[in-house]
Parts: sequence; C-alpha cells; structure tokens
Amino acid sequence: MSDRARISFAKPATKPAGTVVVFAGPDVTLGPAARALGVAALVERAAATAGFAGKAMATLDLIAPADTEFDRLVVVGTGKLSDLKEKDWLRLGGTAMGALGKAKAATVILERPDGRKLTADQTADFALGMRLRGYSFDKYKTPKVDNGDLAQPVDITIAVGESGAARSAWTSLSGVADGVLLARDLVNEPANVLGPVEFAGRAGELSKLGVEIEILGEKDLKKLNMAALLGVAQGSVRPPRVVVMRWNGGKAKDQPVCFIGKGVVFDTGGISIKPAAGMEDMKGDMGGAAAVTGLMHALAARKAKTNAIGIIGLVENMPDGNAQRPGDIVTAMDGKTIEIINTDAEGRLVLADLVAYAEDRFKPRFMIDLATLTGAVIIALGHFHAGLFASDDALANALFAAGESTGELVWRLPLGPDYDKLIDSKFADMKNIGGRAAGSITGAQFIKRFVKDTPWAHLDIAGTAMESPQTEINKSWASGWGVRLLDRLVRDGFER
Ligand code: BES
Ligand code: MN
Ligand code: ZN
Repeated sequence: MSDRARISFAKPATKPAGTVVVFAGPDVTLGPAARALGVAALVERAAATAGFAGKAMATLDLIAPADTEFDRLVVVGTGKLSDLKEKDWLRLGGTAMGALGKAKAATVILERPDGRKLTADQTADFALGMRLRGYSFDKYKTPKVDNGDLAQPVDITIAVGESGAARSAWTSLSGVADGVLLARDLVNEPANVLGPVEFAGRAGELSKLGVEIEILGEKDLKKLNMAALLGVAQGSVRPPRVVVMRWNGGKAKDQPVCFIGKGVVFDTGGISIKPAAGMEDMKGDMGGAAAVTGLMHALAARKAKTNAIGIIGLVENMPDGNAQRPGDIVTAMDGKTIEIINTDAEGRLVLADLVAYAEDRFKPRFMIDLATLTGAVIIALGHFHAGLFASDDALANALFAAGESTGELVWRLPLGPDYDKLIDSKFADMKNIGGRAAGSITGAQFIKRFVKDTPWAHLDIAGTAMESPQTEINKSWASGWGVRLLDRLVRDGFER
C-alpha cells in the first residue's frame, strides 16, 4: 500500500513555506491566522475569477502567488459553519489531502474561518481524513522510470493553536487510521496472494500490539465440530483457518465485547458457480474479517479500556471434486442440521459455527458479525448504508448513532417469524437459502438461528466494504468500512 500522509502538529509559524492550506467560509471569509499571512486580497480576487464561494469541500488552488513567501496556496471551503457536522472535519481533511496533489510538503493552517477554536477531537478527525485520503493500493504497479505516476509521501504540518491536546487526540486516532488502512489492504489484496493461511498470518502480526492470537487449523475445527464452516472450505486445496484475537484492555472480570467476520478469501460460488462477469470482485468477500482485524488493530493501538474479542473465519469457496454439493446436509457445531440448497450462500455457513462458538466460549456482552453476505443488500440500500439486523434494540440504536457520527451509515431491516419460516427445510432443521424475496433478511435469519440469548447484530456490508462510492476520504476500491464505526461504538459505550 501507499500511505502518503506523514502528519505532525506545530504551533502556527509566522512564515510558512512551500504549499500552504487555509480555510474559507461563505463569501470567502478567511480566519485570523490566514489573514495574518496577508493573502486576503489575493484570495478574494482569485475566488471571484474562479467562482469559488467557500462552499463546503470546494477548493481553490493558487500556484506561486506573487508577493508571498510560499509556492502555493490551497484554499478549502468550509461552507456555513453552523451546517458543519461532526464527521465533516474528517471530510475536510480528506478534501485538503486531495487538493495537495503532488506536493512533497505542506503546512495546514487549521482554523475555523470565524476564528473559533477547533476542539482537539475535530483536529484529530481532520488529520484522520488526510491519512485515509492519502491511501492507495499500488504495490502491483511497476513504477515508471521517473516514478512520476505513483504516490509519493507528503510531509504535512498541521498548525493549530494548542498542539499538545491535538497531538494526544491524534495519537489515539492514528491507531484507528492504521486499522482502516490495514482493512483496505487486506480487501484489495488478490486471493492468490492472500489465502486463509496468509490472512491468518497477517492477523497474527497483531501480537506485536499486545493482541493475544490463537490460530485454529483444520484439525482443531474438526474437533470443535465446525462442519458448516468446514463444508465451505472442502472444495479448496487451501485449508481453512479460524483466528481468535483477544485484546484485554479492561479489567479481568469485565465481560468482553465480540466481533465476528466472514473471511471468504475468494467466493466462486462453489458448485453453484457464479457468472464470470465481475467474479474478480469476490476477492473482497473477506471484507468482514478484514474489518474485524482492522478494528482489533485500532483498539490495541489506542489501548482501548475494554476487553474485546475478534473472531474471523477464513475459507475459500471453490468448485472441485471434493466440493460440497447442493442437497448435502451438514451438522453445525451446535448440533443443528443444514440442507445446502445453494453452495453460493456460504458466508452464513461460516458465521453459523462462529457465532455459536463465540457465545459458548466467551459469553460476551454482545456479538456483532460483519459479512459481505448478500447481493440483495446492494439492491436494497446501494453502496451508502450497510444493512443492520439486530436482536436487541439498544445495540441497534448504538450502532445507528455510531454511524451518524462517523459517516459509516447503517440502516435497520426487519427480522421476524414470517421471514424465519422461509428457511425451513424438507429434510433438515433449515436450508441455507430462502427464495429470491427478502434475500438479505433470510440470510440474517439464518445466522440468528445459531445465536442463543446474547444481544446480537449482523451487518451486511456487501455494498459498503468494496466498490463503495469514491469519497473525500477514500479513493480506493476497498473502503475499510466498519473499523471506524465499531471503534466508535466501543469508545462511546463500552469502555471503562
Ligand atoms: N459473497 C456473496 C455476496 C456478495 C455479492 C458480496 C456481491 C459482494 C458483492 C455471497 O456469498 C453470495 O454469493 N450470496 C448470494 C446468496 C444467494 C445464493 C442466496 C447472493 O447474494 O446472490
Ligand atoms: Mn457466495
Ligand atoms: Zn460470499
């Protein structure tokens, strides 16, 4: 990956050099520190010519303005300050980073155009936006001779009044940034490079941050009777792995929170094989596992005061002489039997064993699973919200609130006995698909059958984990969706 933004904080200097970023509100009002640079008249003239009015996320680029100490002035619009939402400082950071282009160094005069101070959290959010925007996945592109078309690092000095508080808020959020970029890297990585074993190895590296790692291999999974998960893996020459990650940042007796991720490193559909068009996207079918791994990284890096467990199920869904067939019946870890109707509905089979295992072994406060589970959720919600399903209103509401503050939005869809009935089977306790109708809901109902009484939520991230819209804070195919949302959920409600 390339992670371009090298960020540091400093008190505003009187004479910044190089590329300088300032902010303008409606009618191109500049803040006091920007005015002190003596650029107000210049910006006013250029703004009039360029039709720049200080609208939120608009930018104005002045190369080598005459009579100034610096080479370039970038003006970023904030829009009406009363309209700015919490998540907008993040977007402004992304916008500023995007406007830097090929600059090698930049100074950001971070202030509100009305002169009021940013909080340390807003400042850190701004820096986070810059980090996220600075990411690109270009490790497989051969650099041109002059290296001109590949991203180069840029040294960024964020000048704020009180740099101490901002720096410490950023110390914590930069760990979250690392978690998001890790999740993006895992999703972008092709499946020939990142199989179940390799993914488990990457998750294992979290031990450097103090995360306890357990890697379960095929024998262990057999001993645990995880036949639903193993059935998905059996058509692949690459053996499955389950990784349990534990971050013990709370008191020993604190009940843990638990996150579970679908990690299908590639989903061909198996014997119910998928059409060729777009199948390459199924290298991202481990987006849930990537988000859980990125989240564990974030929690450990910022030393969250909570006990958290991350569990990921890593398998490859392939057609093969030994692959599972439609009509096969498997007995899941908890003893329930499943008739496989469609081998392409594999994610729920992996999750069935993992939620049962998690609840039994860890008795968590809640379980949240993340999965690129259904194409149907993209039909329902597009790429703007993840589908949220929950057995518990308080947990659903907490997730909704974390979505509003981070911009990783969720929308709740219903569960209920009428939907549950759609997965009853003629031959077994249940079948692994309903009909065409309510495809995302029947997927969720399936997982729910393996949860006993622990508060549980399921996030269907098929639309948001990959090929999500290009935004101020992400230009990459993989978004790293879920890391910031769940970090926020923990921070706001589950730390001591
Ligand atoms: N991994 C897919 C879902 C998916 C589709 C994720 C598009 C991202 C983008 C999942 O395993 C799947 O194949 N689901 C089937 C379920 C069906 C067989 C009931 C689907 O959505 O078609
Ligand atoms: Mn599938
Ligand atoms: Zn899948």
